[in-house]
Amino acid sequence: MHKIDVHFTLKKKEFTVSLATTSRLQNFYKLTQEQRLALLEQTLSNDNLDIKHFQDMSGLDFKLVDAMIENAIGTMNIPIGIATNMIIDGVERLIPMATEESSVVAAVCNAAKQCRDTQGFYTYASGSVMIGQIQLLGATNPYYARQKILERQQEIKEICNSVDPMLVSLGGGFLSVEVRILDDGIEPIIVVHILVDTLDAMGANAVNSMAESLSQQLELWIGAEANMRILSNLADQRIVMARAKWSLKELGGEQVRDAMLAAYRFADCDPYRAATHNKGIMNGVSAVVLATGNDTRAVEAGAHAYACRFGQYRSLSSWEIDKDGNLCGTLQMPLAVGLIGGATKIHPTAQQNLSILGVKTAQELARVICAVGLAQNYAAMKALVTTGIQQGHMSLHAKNMAIMAGATGSEVELVATKLTDGGRVRLDLAQKFLQDIRDEG
Ligand code: MEV
Repeated sequence: MHKIDVHFTLKKKEFTVSLATTSRLQNFYKLTQEQRLALLEQTLSNDNLDIKHFQDMSGLDFKLVDAMIENAIGTMNIPIGIATNMIIDGVERLIPMATEESSVVAAVCNAAKQCRDTQGFYTYASGSVMIGQIQLLGATNPYYARQKILERQQEIKEICNSVDPMLVSLGGGFLSVEVRILDDGIEPIIVVHILVDTLDAMGANAVNSMAESLSQQLELWIGAEANMRILSNLADQRIVMARAKWSLKELGGEQVRDAMLAAYRFADCDPYRAATHNKGIMNGVSAVVLATGNDTRAVEAGAHAYACRFGQYRSLSSWEIDKDGNLCGTLQMPLAVGLIGGATKIHPTAQQNLSILGVKTAQELARVICAVGLAQNYAAMKALVTTGIQQGHMSLHAKNMAIMAGATGSEVELVATKLTDGGRVRLDLAQKFLQDIRDEG
């Protein structure tokens, strides 16, 4: 692989960062913001990337903010970090993650570094099919009505596709119809599912419009009343999988591997643990979903509903050992994300983050997100069965504590160092150290 080495001097120390066709940006974390941005600009060849955008952290133009939501008063910033070291389907990827939580970005970098020798992550995507639901009430003969609906598949297709001719012209649109009869013990509920290929869109707008339009015809055909007409966030026709393998050498030996496997087994059979295990996965997933202007709640709702598909809330990931003793991880989850429409298209930072990612399709984005979720899960399990997660959190936590104590500028680093050196990160200690520093200075 072609590599360029860039040398930096920082605090009188020499650092070398390798770039070009690699995401392995060693020492990236030691650089200043300006150096990181300069390095990204040199590393990525994307004409749409305007790296200066990240220097201005004052937020969005209020006109755009006001157009995005109601009663707008301002914005709230969330840090964006770059996950390095990722190889996904043979492609080196630098991945922007938007998160307020410390250690999340570092976790992905570490997990990804430890599986570079096994070629990183491989992914699979089932397609981009979303489900729209129409609830019909008051049908006295639901089974008869179901068949009447199914017989009109061609008309249903025409009604749905006429709502979004652009989607159809691009190769997407209505695929099929399903009719379910639910029984809640009060009266049968007819639920019509329309399956729609939404291509590069998340699909909520297209599917909701189709469901609304179709519901009027359904009412006439079967003499029932349409009640709910909305997309389902249990996007189980839009499944993405990521897999990766960690060698014993990289993960730290048999004992660590076996402890990680035991941690997974715990999560898979106990909803209390599974919730936290999956939350760790979503730390990675939601950070990329948010960074790209996608709907975090939609993805999270889908993920957790999918985790219950066997009747009990379980782990979204699976962990096994192969015949050579490597730890193999797989993450499988619905991922309804898009590249067109919504905040993804209009939010300038989302656009810049997509330029960093360099994905061309929504499916490619979903594959990246899934790989990040798996990396996150590996790192969390490994930390939990070895050092615990607090150690990793400590230095950033110490900085936060120093800021809470009132430290500014260079005081932040000085107070944080004293806190971590002492092994106890507490506000009262931070206040004391800050006072000492100010008294000495
Ligand atoms: C913390 O945000 C996420 C973890 O709790 C995930 C896990 O327990 O697997 C560390």
